Amino acid sequence: AAVQTFDMILFGGTGDLVMRKLLPALYHQHRDGQMGDGARIIGVARSNLSSDDYIATAEKHCAQYLGEAFDKAVWASFAQRLGYQRVDAQNPAHFADLAAMLDQFKDRIRVYYLSTAPSLFTATCENLANAGLVTAHSRVVLEKPLGHDLASSQAINDAVGRYFAENQIYRIDHYLGKEPVQNLLALRFGNALFEPLWRREWVRDVQITVAEQIGVETRGDFYDKTGALRDMVQNHLLQLLCIVAMEPPSSIDSDAVRDEKLKVLRALKPFTPNEVITKTVRGQYRAGAAAGKPVPGYLEEPEIPADSRTETFVAIKAEIDTWRWAGVPFFLRTGKRMQEKVAEIVINFRDVPHSIFGMPAGHGFNRLVIRMQPEESMKLYLLAKQPGDAMHLGQVHLNLDFEETFKTRRLEAYERLLMDAVRGKLTLFVRRDEQEAAWRWVEPIIDAWEQSTDKPKTYTAGTWGPAASSALLSRDGLAWHEEI
Ligand code: BG6
Repeated sequence: AAVQTFDMILFGGTGDLVMRKLLPALYHQHRDGQMGDGARIIGVARSNLSSDDYIATAEKHCAQYLGEAFDKAVWASFAQRLGYQRVDAQNPAHFADLAAMLDQFKDRIRVYYLSTAPSLFTATCENLANAGLVTAHSRVVLEKPLGHDLASSQAINDAVGRYFAENQIYRIDHYLGKEPVQNLLALRFGNALFEPLWRREWVRDVQITVAEQIGVETRGDFYDKTGALRDMVQNHLLQLLCIVAMEPPSSIDSDAVRDEKLKVLRALKPFTPNEVITKTVRGQYRAGAAAGKPVPGYLEEPEIPADSRTETFVAIKAEIDTWRWAGVPFFLRTGKRMQEKVAEIVINFRDVPHSIFGMPAGHGFNRLVIRMQPEESMKLYLLAKQPGDAMHLGQVHLNLDFEETFKTRRLEAYERLLMDAVRGKLTLFVRRDEQEAAWRWVEPIIDAWEQSTDKPKTYTAGTWGPAASSALLSRDGLAWHEEI
């Protein structure tokens, strides 16, 4: 890809995401020669820091997060691109200071990355515009949470949309930047093999799991107001669902792909309040274990009210009302403090019409498992004859380990997405209508949960979630991948 010279301005520049993810990602891209001469990365935040102080803090964090990939000499050259500017989002004078710095290079690509509370987005965009900082080459990247419901997400989109055109707005969903997610596009649309089977006639059910072992860590206050449905399902899981379920786009162009994803979101069958009860499970973890060590329950975590009803686990049986997918359940599941850290998409194919080998029906012997985490792999489960006299079949799998196959360094999601923003590639960013369609589908679930007097179902930390999660599938004669 073309190497660009740009200015990237990181709002929330002293925050966790910038220190843990964005700067390490930019460091890698710098080392890989992806930045043009003189490209600058400017952290901005409210604190009164010198650039030197900022760079020193950044170095400490990057050294920690990059581990072995951290190299003093590379850091030294990367640090020359770094700077700091004090900017209070509400203070126009600070934007004049920023303008003085940026206007040295008026024609450069500018990427404004808003990694602050969304309540500051409006003021930030307005002040950028008033200071003449929104140029034809400017882009704004919006970090989640983009609202907590449809109305608040529309308000953010309206506010940002007053100053930036839609094709200048990059809504990040870092799951779209993960290598295996793009590989799913390659698998589906680069091979003739799977697409004919990728439909209700051959697919029995789809399972999308993003399980984490960590708890809420230091984000208690944020998490308690958010919950797993807003934190993970509205964005990451629905985006994965779109990539699995969408029709073949006519090209890889951003709008061609996003049009198809939008159609999926709009075809998601909406839930009535009663269906929310039968087709969703919300859970909350109790004390248990993680990686062999005892851990507290959600209600004992810092900043969590003792009577919190916030869900740390969600399972949903979703359906897509289209010719391709009618009647095929898409099971979505995510949770904190689960047994393993796993992100995977499982496609269960239907049985043969009649087994001449006496294999039991309903077992789902043909299965495609695409893993994003902990390793990047793709496994195709097949039946084969077991060695010996008798005609006994057993399950075998074709295992494609991407890390083994491609030894080159794998880009972190944020590396790709940051550089896509620099290069003006919108394909892996969420368009306004997609984001709003996702909220529209999720909202009835939020409402029904809020109105219900039920508490979330409990599960022990370090397990696969509440028993009701297995029951959601067993009612259809199905089971989660790890249970078979
Ligand atoms: C974030 C959520 O969007 O995704 C976090 O806010 C979650 O709660 C994280 O831990 C998971 O991302 P990854 O890439 O570690 O699977």
